[in-house]
Amino acid sequence: MSAKINAVKGMNDLLPGAVGRWQELEALAREVFALYGYREVRTPVVEPAALYSRGVGEQTDIVSKEMYVFEDKGEDRLALRPEGTAGTIRAFIEHGAFVDGPQKWFYMGPMFRRERPQKGRYRQFHQIGVEAFGIAEPALDAEQIAMVEDWLSRLGVKTTLKLNSVGDPACRPAYLADLTAWLTERAGQLCADCRERTAKNPLRVLDCKVPTCQPVLQSAPRLLDRLCDPCRVHFDAVRAGLDALGVAYLVEPRLVRGLDYYVRTAYEFTSDALGAQSAVAGGGRYDGLVETLGGPPTPGIGFALGAERLALILEALGRPIPVRRPLVFLVAADEAGAAAVLKLSSDLRKAGVACDLDARGGKLARQFKQAERVAARFALVLGSAEVAAGEGKLKDMTTRQETPVKLAGLAAHLREAAT
Ligand code: HAM
Repeated sequence: MSAKINAVKGMNDLLPGAVGRWQELEALAREVFALYGYREVRTPVVEPAALYSRGVGEQTDIVSKEMYVFEDKGEDRLALRPEGTAGTIRAFIEHGAFVDGPQKWFYMGPMFRRERPQKGRYRQFHQIGVEAFGIAEPALDAEQIAMVEDWLSRLGVKTTLKLNSVGDPACRPAYLADLTAWLTERAGQLCADCRERTAKNPLRVLDCKVPTCQPVLQSAPRLLDRLCDPCRVHFDAVRAGLDALGVAYLVEPRLVRGLDYYVRTAYEFTSDALGAQSAVAGGGRYDGLVETLGGPPTPGIGFALGAERLALILEALGRPIPVRRPLVFLVAADEAGAAAVLKLSSDLRKAGVACDLDARGGKLARQFKQAERVAARFALVLGSAEVAAGEGKLKDMTTRQETPVKLAGLAAHLREAAT
């Protein structure tokens, strides 16, 4: 045997036994998003690298450290998408979608970040996200946040919603200058990462998880106390909207997000079931971003959820993985039976009945073993006697009970038995 080749570190296979969970959460996302007027968009996984340096921010960890970038045979510098917002906006602008007024879009698919893999953190991971364009009013923020909550609670997932305002270009620069000065004064008490970020991206310092930095940062000046009037009014209205919708939240003044594009509303859904990587979903407003990426001034707000993290929570909750199983397994007793099961399986499938058979034929015991492996609900043995009589015995694989059935009209009989 040749040496085996394994998957790339931090990139996971999702085998058929686990995929049912993903199908469930994706199907529910589609259903819930449609209830709120979001329509699906699909964009490439590869984009010009410049899209992210301009869109997500040159100084962010995502762009400066974690992006997979490569040369396309001496042409463009390309990147595997590290997130979905920038590409969605590129498509929104490129196709002139803004002429159609406000739009609500959603997407699901793989994203790539060269992070250190650990539980809940991978190099290829999957996001399910939405972007809503063209509405600056806070009612949209509240509606979108409530939608995430609606989706998660339908899955039985309890999360904490953290809410903050990160201000806008009117109020943030003065705050950032003060914060930088405050952090510089305390540089000696902060970790090396914090010191580096003080100069490059001071807001991110607030997010530092190092235990010795935490108590120092507790008393850092808060942007929430320094919001300009329009940002304050917006934040209060988002809160009022969430209150009216009965969505509980925690105001978290130190919530900053790892991407530079946010203004005003920033939010995150976290779960204790996840350990260190507690953020299940995160998002916020990015009112200047469409313009930064070459489009007309268009407000926007979106979020993305990490599908792996949601799957981990569902697993921790012990939620069973939905399985699709054949309603009936056709077993061939002899040569006439083998021909009959092939034809009957085709008829049943055309009639919408999920069925399976062991194309190897052979011993009955082995065929029954296969019927058990695929968790078939019923089994039906066909041999020359059954074919001649036009009827057989339908075996319930759980109770082991056998019932005589006519082969003509089997599909209808099975559907009835299944209910
Ligand atoms: P983000 O917070 O970087 O935001 O990612 C959103 C979610 O993706 C996280 O909450 C987490 O569940 C998941 N995630 C991120 N990195 C990893 C990883 N390495 N492994 C597993 N899961 C991960 C964004 O990406 C923004 N584009 C969200 C957004 C949309 N903002 C506005 N619109």
